[in-house]
Amino acid sequence: MATQTDARELHAVPSEEDQAGQAYFDRIIAEDSRIEPSDWMPEAYRKTLVRQISQHAHSEIIGMQPEANFITRAPSLKRKAILMAKVQDEAGHGLYLYSAAETLGTPREELFDQLLTGRAKYSSIFNYPALTWADMGAIGWLVDGAAIVNQVPLCRASYGPYGRAMVRICKEESFHQRQGFEILLELANGTPAQKQMAQDAINRFYAPALMMFGPNDDASPNSQQSMRWNIKRFSNDELRQRFVGMIQEQVKVLGLTLPDDKIRFNEETGQWEHGELDWNEFYEVLKGRGPCNAQRMERRREAHENGAWVREAASAYAAKQAQKAQVA
Ligand SMILES: [Fe+2]
Ligand SMILES: [Fe+2]
Repeated sequence: MATQTDARELHAVPSEEDQAGQAYFDRIIAEDSRIEPSDWMPEAYRKTLVRQISQHAHSEIIGMQPEANFITRAPSLKRKAILMAKVQDEAGHGLYLYSAAETLGTPREELFDQLLTGRAKYSSIFNYPALTWADMGAIGWLVDGAAIVNQVPLCRASYGPYGRAMVRICKEESFHQRQGFEILLELANGTPAQKQMAQDAINRFYAPALMMFGPNDDASPNSQQSMRWNIKRFSNDELRQRFVGMIQEQVKVLGLTLPDDKIRFNEETGQWEHGELDWNEFYEVLKGRGPCNAQRMERRREAHENGAWVREAASAYAAKQAQKAQVA
């Protein structure tokens, strides 16, 4: 009994080390500096980061699927090479982010396990099908475009390894966005059927891309805490409005339109406004009932199983190298 009470007391009163750690953490956040892996950090901060960074990593690798499907159907060798490079970049993004998440103490196998057993989420956008070549354009322009708007502020995230991973990712994302825009531009200037195909792709990806920023601010309670910790810098709605302002300008260059007649700039608030989004659909997709959830997960599990020999070979090689180093 005595031990139990002691344990409870210990839990209630933070140790001197924790107090000093908390003071250090608070100062770093107040100074807008960086927390590094070996620094003390509150458990909730660590958990939030592991969840966010691993969700982000999962999104990168699941996001390879809709575009990978089109590598064999690219209309020219040049387009094939570009698309292949783009899809490979996304695998790289997944790797940087899994590595960043691992610095917080959760092993990669566990993160994979969370994804494969359906306990972890990934971006809802990748549960929509890519139906035509024009979708490669719409995905690059709108999906990678929304990712950039979301991710540029994350380059300043208070957790060092995450912020640094985002710098490189953002550079590659801007190439992705431009390649998507260029696909649409070429189609928009092609035959009437090609132009229609481009418009159709924009019509289908517009709303899901806007939903990538997450629920409205009043339905996103964790955002506030993330902003206090300098992980997030802007709210979901702020980022979404910024994105709408950007694409409503760019779509004019394409000579196409966005499927939303409510877009307008509100002089009073200084913000872009847009039509209502179907949040019901968003939550359905998030719960696994989107058009492609089952297919994406099945494909991911298959790829994971097929990759077992690569992981085995890599760890055997690493063990051998370590042994060699030890002997030397
Ligand atoms: Fe990416
Ligand atoms: Fe990308």
